[in-house]
Amino acid sequence: MSVEPTPTEKVFSVAELKPGDSSEPIYDAWAESYDQELTDVGYNSPPLVAATLAAMVGDTSGAVIDYGCGTGLSGSALRGADFETIDGADLSSGMLEIAAAKGVYRSLHKVDLTGPTGLGDGSYAAAACVGAMGNGHLDPSHVTELVRAVTPGGPVVFYMNGGPYVADDYEGQFRGLADEGVWTIERIEASNYMDELARPGFLVVARAGAGT
Ligand SMILES: C[S@@+](CC[C@H](N)C(=O)[O-])C[C@H]1O[C@@H](n2cnc3c(N)ncnc32)[C@H](O)[C@@H]1O
Repeated sequence: MSVEPTPTEKVFSVAELKPGDSSEPIYDAWAESYDQELTDVGYNSPPLVAATLAAMVGDTSGAVIDYGCGTGLSGSALRGADFETIDGADLSSGMLEIAAAKGVYRSLHKVDLTGPTGLGDGSYAAAACVGAMGNGHLDPSHVTELVRAVTPGGPVVFYMNGGPYVADDYEGQFRGLADEGVWTIERIEASNYMDELARPGFLVVARAGAGT
């Protein structure tokens, strides 16, 4: 007899993915119940990222790319922060289907963000990536390609789980990318990203390019 994993078990199972594992079947299967289950545990990083980006751009009329957009909780938060033009990119067709139904995205792209994205250089005013970095999802080796699509000086704000951030020294790797001129890190903040669970994470606030 198979037993359906609890919502909390699903949250933890994606966090146990290793580099090279594909998260696609897990997210395809999770898509339908994802929003309710994440809402139930008080998932708070999408509005945090959206508010951070909005404060950095001042003018929210420029296009923003939502990397690892999933079902669109992050896109909905961006819309809630007054961004007018939001595109989403994600690997999971199941997640993208739910995102499309929300009607907050101008366009949605099914793409594996560990490779070339096909997005134009500097074609976005800003980028968000909420919950798609670390634990067999994306990692620092993919950041250069993600930042490439943002206009130089445009904000790039990530939120990620604290486990891989600490274990794999993401801060050191992110700061190494800053040394290479990929982006300029403005600040990194620790917080707990699920009100009902102990889920430490990090908000990474940067701008595309080397700065002035
Ligand atoms: C925890 S969900 C976050 C979704 C959304 N941003 C949110 O805050 O609810 C992580 C998302 O990253 C996507 N993802 C993981 N690896 C990916 C990859 N290699 N390329 C594109 N998307 C990926 C998954 O499909 C999933 O939708």
